Amino acid sequence: MTLKAKITGVGGYVPSEILSNKDLEKMVDTDDQWILERTGIKERRVLTKPGLGSSYMATKAVEELLNKTNTPSEDIDLVICATTTPDMVFPATANIIAHNLGIKNGFGFDMNAACSGFLYALNTGAKYIESGACKKVIVIGVDKMSSIIDYNDRATCIIFGDGAGAVLLEPDSDGYGIIDSKLCSDGVGAANLHQKAGGSVCPPNKATVDSNLHSVYQEGASVFKWAVSKMAEVSVELMEANNLTSKDINWLVPHQANKRIIDFTATRAGIPKEKVMLNIQKFGNTTNGTIPLCLWEWEDKLKKGDNLILCSFGGGFTWGATYLKWG
Ligand code: UT7
Repeated sequence: MTLKAKITGVGGYVPSEILSNKDLEKMVDTDDQWILERTGIKERRVLTKPGLGSSYMATKAVEELLNKTNTPSEDIDLVICATTTPDMVFPATANIIAHNLGIKNGFGFDMNAACSGFLYALNTGAKYIESGACKKVIVIGVDKMSSIIDYNDRATCIIFGDGAGAVLLEPDSDGYGIIDSKLCSDGVGAANLHQKAGGSVCPPNKATVDSNLHSVYQEGASVFKWAVSKMAEVSVELMEANNLTSKDINWLVPHQANKRIIDFTATRAGIPKEKVMLNIQKFGNTTNGTIPLCLWEWEDKLKKGDNLILCSFGGGFTWGATYLKWG
């Protein structure tokens, strides 16, 4: 039997501070009912303490993961951190997290594929396991979206939140773990969802700050149209490629950007709502954090042999789906 990468543990962290729809009503021209009906979100978490960034949340998530799995930090071969909001442009946030936790016998790097980053990182980590190059890989999805959100932009600020999730990947030769994936991207989407300044094309300066170019720019309706069709399409394609019908699927683990996108994907895939992991109502869209945070919350309910379809859509555009058999 060929070597597969199996998830052997999940850790998570969300800040305690809650930003509710009612709070947002006081900040922008919106209301709880509109947000709930259009997105499915009631509240989200935000990391407000000054001086704390993505590495803080990710360190908490990985610390929990190492404790739960009784894994000594010295045994970790690789840390991959998927994030759109690194602590700094460089060094990689993965290295800061590893340093915080005494992970010093491996290596680490960040991955940026916006909301699909966790799936891309999971698949990258899996390749290191499948090749035999690594025995223990930590894959993190984390974002402090509140650091790049314009809380005057009512169409965008309502969906995002902060949080981190992490999984441990280890080798398996009994048929469990990541079985198949389909990852996609199309740079046409850069125009619809991006951060205008702070990169090498438009470095930060007083004018970029004054013009508020360091926040998420999102043409919500255009992104929605792509997300709704692509996330559903790629999930169904992956199921068909693996001869899976909706009856074979125990859990759909979708990126949590908008409940309407999730509902459409589940309907297209024929998966009933009781088999769909959903925590958007309380955490919002934590970008790279959404999928591992679902696994973190549902870990106790998952049984050996369960078939999971993970799927995402995000900036870039990037999208994809992963089929894994829970070990
Ligand atoms: O994470 C991965 C990538 N991101 C996504 O997948 C997000 C995809 N997009 C969406 O989820 C939705 O587009 C949003 C939730 C962001 C926006 O919802 P929408 O239904 O697409 O709203 P819209 O931007 O098309 O605006 C419709 C109307 C507009 O009013 P008019 O022009 O029709 O009078 C907006 O001004 O709703 C208005 N509006 C709001 N009203 C109350 C927009 N935001 C709000 C708001 N409260 N917060």
